[in-house]
Amino acid sequence: MDAISVIRTKRDRGELTDAQIDWVIDAYTRGEVADEQMSALAMAILLNGMNRREIARWTAAMIASGERMDFSTLARPTADKHSTGGVGDKITLPLAPLVAACGAAVPQLSGRGLGHTGGTLDKLESIPGWRALLSNEEMLNVLDGVGAVICAAGDGLAPADKKLYALRDVTATVEAIPLIASSIMSKKIAEGTGSLVLDVKVGTGAFMKNLADARELASTMVGLGTDHGVRTVALLTDMSTPLGLTAGNALEVRESVEVLAGGGPADVVELTLALAREMLDAAGLKDADPAKALADGSAMDAWRRMIAAQGGDPDAALPTSREQHVITAPSSGVLTRLDAYDIGIGAWRLGAGRARKEDPVQAAAGIELHAKPGDTVTAGQPLLTLHTDTPERFDYALEAVSDSYDIAAPGTEFSTTPVVLE
Ligand code: URA
Repeated sequence: MDAISVIRTKRDRGELTDAQIDWVIDAYTRGEVADEQMSALAMAILLNGMNRREIARWTAAMIASGERMDFSTLARPTADKHSTGGVGDKITLPLAPLVAACGAAVPQLSGRGLGHTGGTLDKLESIPGWRALLSNEEMLNVLDGVGAVICAAGDGLAPADKKLYALRDVTATVEAIPLIASSIMSKKIAEGTGSLVLDVKVGTGAFMKNLADARELASTMVGLGTDHGVRTVALLTDMSTPLGLTAGNALEVRESVEVLAGGGPADVVELTLALAREMLDAAGLKDADPAKALADGSAMDAWRRMIAAQGGDPDAALPTSREQHVITAPSSGVLTRLDAYDIGIGAWRLGAGRARKEDPVQAAAGIELHAKPGDTVTAGQPLLTLHTDTPERFDYALEAVSDSYDIAAPGTEFSTTPVVLE
């Protein structure tokens, strides 16, 4: 077997055989297939696609590239959630302790932000002392003791995906349904969760820009999970506008704590509860009441224990930005658009995200939104507050957000997009 013939098969719109797939994933993980060969193959897959058999085999080969975790010793049923990524998507933060407070074990292996979408680990690292890197044993201990753990995936889990994802990120080959589906599901299946709820984002701030593509991605992932014995369901949710009123690391932690305290923006609360119900259902805990766990403080209690178990101080003050810049509404009327992608790029340019994997992020950088689509605004009122520790970034960020909103004449009829689309 050789890399050139595998690339040629896909370049010429052929079907890869099981043997070709097993070989190329294994040889790439071992370093025998070079990055430039794998990037050519990834581009051929992006352009020419894969059928269901190829996707299933590619996923199985990525799972087999590393270890599998085992949560069978836990007394509680396991339930996990994965979002395909968005702007202001802090849902994992309130959701994991909430579902734990309702009786499930939530092993939430999460990632860092890259590009315009934020990363759960970057957000939590703005809490003084909190550690994302846990050994498998530490992870199991937190999961057993608290019921929820949010941490980085160990190096042993789907190492083929780790290499391939980093390569796709710098070769414009992220947005391929077969590659996204196999990347996400190989990690989730290797992680060993019994059930999984997928939050497939649709809109300008998501990888999937339209419903048809999001449906295909969702059904591909649900099929892969089901075939591997993981009870898998998917919600398609809106990402044309940022979730909540913040995009940025510490800003989003603050908003998540508001939700756990029984407040917070309506769209964040709605999506957190919708995903919690799906997770509890999939875990066989149909009688649990997540709204009650938010209201009676038990979700907040699980959050505090989860943060403390990972070295964080749940009472510590979160970092605040050294410099702010306020953008005001140029006219009075109805806000009809606030673009998730533009806000994500703006927050990233302010320092909330990284351009390269090894870059540090600023804990306090990001954007606060003072209005959401459907709100009435008055000329001169604050619309967005930009936060950074490095004010030389303001001009670059302003370029990204200057066209991020539309204000229509006062009284214009406007119907808001539901958060859960399907
Ligand atoms: N998240 C992943 O883990 N992989 C992808 O390919 C895209 C989003």
